[in-house]
Amino acid sequence: KIRRTTVPQIASRKGGEPIVSLTSYHAHTAAIVDKYADFILVGDSLGMVMHGMESTIGVPLDLMIMHGKAVVRGTEKALIVVDMPFGTYEESPGVAFRNAAKIMKETQCGAIKLEGGKRMAETIHFLVERGIPVMAHIGLTPQSSHVMGGFKTQGKDKAGWDTIIEDAIAVAEAGAFCVVVEGVVEELADKITEACPIPTIGIGASAKCDGQILVLEDMLGLNEWTPKFVKVYGNLGPAIENAVKTYAEEVKDRSFPGPDNTY
Ligand code: KIV
Ligand code: NA
Repeated sequence: KIRRTTVPQIASRKGGEPIVSLTSYHAHTAAIVDKYADFILVGDSLGMVMHGMESTIGVPLDLMIMHGKAVVRGTEKALIVVDMPFGTYEESPGVAFRNAAKIMKETQCGAIKLEGGKRMAETIHFLVERGIPVMAHIGLTPQSSHVMGGFKTQGKDKAGWDTIIEDAIAVAEAGAFCVVVEGVVEELADKITEACPIPTIGIGASAKCDGQILVLEDMLGLNEWTPKFVKVYGNLGPAIENAVKTYAEEVKDRSFPGPDNTY
């Protein structure tokens, strides 16, 4: 059996070969991503992407666990990281530990991710000391979108740069093994990657980050609209529509099931 990528292996890629990662929420796509990704994130973006929610705020812990289990089952090689949803870790290190442990026990994933920089440093330290590897997430943190007034690119005003760089250093010092840097201007992303001793994983950030992540459904072209930072590598939306449309036509004109499809 192939051994999965480990947390120290990801951590050791600082300044090295770029880390490849994507999100996945279910066994089938995860099995494909597993062939090429160093880690797979079961992101709480699944609330929006898979379940039609308007934001990630409403994602329940049990939903993350259900999708986490599916992705672990469907893979054998990549490190599986599961997002902690809003409201399950911010209150205290104790609450965070209880919920992170539940995620790890039930899904058998290899690490969790939570949003926040300096403010989460104490919690990150508490979890890592007790055996839970933590991936941090700074810059644009979607779970705080109501405070930020939407999904806003960070660092457009240089006055805010130091705070975000300090966030990156704080999560590294607290023991996070890598940090997602989301939605920050390129020049700031480069400064973060330079200043931060752990790998940075960019999304809407910079090619100089130590790795990249995208939401799988975004890069597969399943959405009618995607933001500028998404490169659409596949055109699955139209492909699915074409298949469904042809099926509907063939059911109606009774050409499906044909001779090959009946016993
Ligand atoms: O939930 C998610 O998919 C994420 C990635 C975009 C980093 O947090
Ligand atoms: Na997320």
